[in-house]
Amino acid sequence: MSHQLLKGKKGIIFGALDEKSIAWKTALRCHDEGAQLVLTNAPIALRMGEINTLAQQCNNAPVIPADVTSMDNLNNLFTKSMEHFNGGIDFVLHSVGMSMNIRKGNAYTDLNHEFTHKTLDISAMSLHRVLQVAYKLDAIKEWGSVVALTYIAAQRVFPDYSDMADAKALLENIARSFGYHYGTKKKVRINTISQSPTRTTAGSGVQSFDGFIDYAEKMSPLGNASAEDCANYCVSLFSDYTKMVTMQNLFHDGGFSLMGVSQAVIEQMGK
Ligand code: NAI
Repeated sequence: MSHQLLKGKKGIIFGALDEKSIAWKTALRCHDEGAQLVLTNAPIALRMGEINTLAQQCNNAPVIPADVTSMDNLNNLFTKSMEHFNGGIDFVLHSVGMSMNIRKGNAYTDLNHEFTHKTLDISAMSLHRVLQVAYKLDAIKEWGSVVALTYIAAQRVFPDYSDMADAKALLENIARSFGYHYGTKKKVRINTISQSPTRTTAGSGVQSFDGFIDYAEKMSPLGNASAEDCANYCVSLFSDYTKMVTMQNLFHDGGFSLMGVSQAVIEQMGK
């Protein structure tokens, strides 16, 4: 189902690792809706090679490596993307996250702070880096749209989300702060989507993820939002239909964020 909502628009998609990735699904939906794309990921992730399959499905989109912790890599990415598009960029998806503390199963009360530095750098400061590079190169067109993905652990406590919760709080704040500056300078809008737990490589790294996802499903009146649903929401935020939306943290979670308790969870507890 295509409405050509992004016809003529040009975008950069960060973070398509494999078919399960939210960025992968979003790239396919953006392509369906008429956008031209540049795909990017960390060099180490590109070595797995799966992204070339996605690139082919997106009209042979160029794949440009960039580690989001490297300003040189990001400068190169934006410069090359503008050369490729022969002009400015309309939208950017930041779909990047990584915590070695989560991977190693470190409790929040026993973090390795070197790892925490990395978590914050890769998962949150990277949005600032991306935006600062784009801002200085004047890479994003007027009314352009930047979306980053986040999780409700930025507002509420989810013990196993560990230092990623802190990273997401910072990420959401960067979206607001930069949203002001980029909005006043160039009418570029910046939002975060707070997505339901989703079975992907990053998601499944969280301890007790199955319990996590089942609980959210039972708590949400509409159930959990899938990666495909998230891709559709991204398309709407990249389109001109949402041009006055900026600096928002937008919950895309089937209603989870406003629930206290649901009948399904009460019944489960009574068993
Ligand atoms: P994913 O594992 O498919 O995507 C994470 C991506 O980050 C990968 O492509 C990985 O290569 C990339 N990445 C890691 N380090 C990098 C670096 N140094 N430079 C460049 N890229 C790097 O998993 P998923 O779930 O699609 O994650 C996308 C975003 O969605 C993340 O921000 C995640 O926190 C967020 N999110 C995920 C949820 C879930 O339950 N899966 C729920 C809410 C938000």
